Amino acid sequence: MSDDKFTKIAEIIEQKINSGEYLPNSKLPTHRALADELKTTPATIAKAYKLLSERGRLDSFVGRGTFVRAHTELGQAIQAPNDEKYFNFSLLQPCLDVNVAPLKKAYQQAAEQFSAVAIGYVEGSGHEAHREAGVMWAKEYGLLGGNSSNTLLTNGAQHALSLIIHSMTRPGDTILVEALTYPGILAIASLAGRQVVSVALDEQGLCPDSLQAALVEHDPTLVIVVPNHQNPTGALMSQARKKAIAHLINQHQVWLIEDDIYAFLNEAPCEPIANFAPDYTFHISALSKAISPAMRCGFIKAPQPQVNVLNAFIRSDIWLSSPLNFIAATCLIESQEAFRIAAVQRDIAKRRRQIAADILTQVSWQAHGYHIWLPLPQDWQADRFTMEAKNQGILVTSGSYFSADGQVADHVRLSLMSISDEARFKQGLHALQALLQTNRNTLFPF
Ligand SMILES: Cc1ncc(COP(=O)(O)O)c(C=O)c1O
Repeated sequence: MSDDKFTKIAEIIEQKINSGEYLPNSKLPTHRALADELKTTPATIAKAYKLLSERGRLDSFVGRGTFVRAHTELGQAIQAPNDEKYFNFSLLQPCLDVNVAPLKKAYQQAAEQFSAVAIGYVEGSGHEAHREAGVMWAKEYGLLGGNSSNTLLTNGAQHALSLIIHSMTRPGDTILVEALTYPGILAIASLAGRQVVSVALDEQGLCPDSLQAALVEHDPTLVIVVPNHQNPTGALMSQARKKAIAHLINQHQVWLIEDDIYAFLNEAPCEPIANFAPDYTFHISALSKAISPAMRCGFIKAPQPQVNVLNAFIRSDIWLSSPLNFIAATCLIESQEAFRIAAVQRDIAKRRRQIAADILTQVSWQAHGYHIWLPLPQDWQADRFTMEAKNQGILVTSGSYFSADGQVADHVRLSLMSISDEARFKQGLHALQALLQTNRNTLFPF
């Protein structure tokens, strides 16, 4: 082969990734082993790996080797088409059927409030009354100290995450994230060229000991945590754990994003970490999970000195989130209807967890919120299981989308809420239970 031999080798490796022979997060052979297999030299393999790293297909970790990059394509992690041919357990959203009527009413009420001021440009991130509504929403679930001057409006929580990451960190900075985390965070960091370092989790979420060690070793600019009903593990933090994390944040004077989008699922209001580290914490809440992801209404309570920086970023990026959606959101919050809807969704989630406990008995799992982090029976790898489930008409989310450190996933995430109809939800769970009972080796005898 000619000079560009390494590009041909790179193509061969890429084909192996695309065909599923090399799975996401799996470790690639050493330079020497692959050189022997492909009858070339280790130097050529090294060049091919480098090319594929530049193309975003591989990641190399000093001392650990080269891995197939986990997905950063969010469109694959959540499979949105609500095609009736699938049992769709992949979307973390409320049971939307029951929210349609109150949402219609809120938008009708909102239309009545349209005025020249309402439909025009606005100072800051949006109207004061809408920021006040955001304060009310987050306060209901435990956040203290919010007011209309330290609260900003965003296009949902994903926009809030992106806004804070872009405004508070620079390319090359290190961000500490949970070892298994919401893929939206990994996608922003990857596209923005921020390094992520993973911090260990236990049944209460982020571990203070591991956080302390990572703060010392990596000197990060930012830490990101999902304290309630963590996505994907479902971990729920105690107040003692939140205080321990706040203590480390205050001590190390590092920024914290507390993504508290699932706070409304707690049985009673719980104080967020932000209450104990208000000078460093950006607290995110949103209406997407309780009311509708289509509203795109999110709120940030920021440390007061950072509000202007965030406002400048919002203005340069989107100018402002649509006030028209926030009029409807404010109608729902001021009338208390938003809290009633959230309570209904919380009750549905509770009932769904019971139904799932009765049907999914093949493996043991625990859940408190909208989803289950389902361990797979031995021999199943998460991507293979997800592929096979899809072949059988069941959409679940492979655990590999959530891995911040390239560990091979042996779980899938299952949303309990995305199939609105309960009978169909049960049918889907029975189909899934049947797949869990299938011996992997009878499906893939290789
Ligand atoms: C932890 C977490 N943060 C943010 C989001 C995105 O929320 P939004 O639709 O409000 O952008 C999600 C959605 O799944 C999530 O799980």
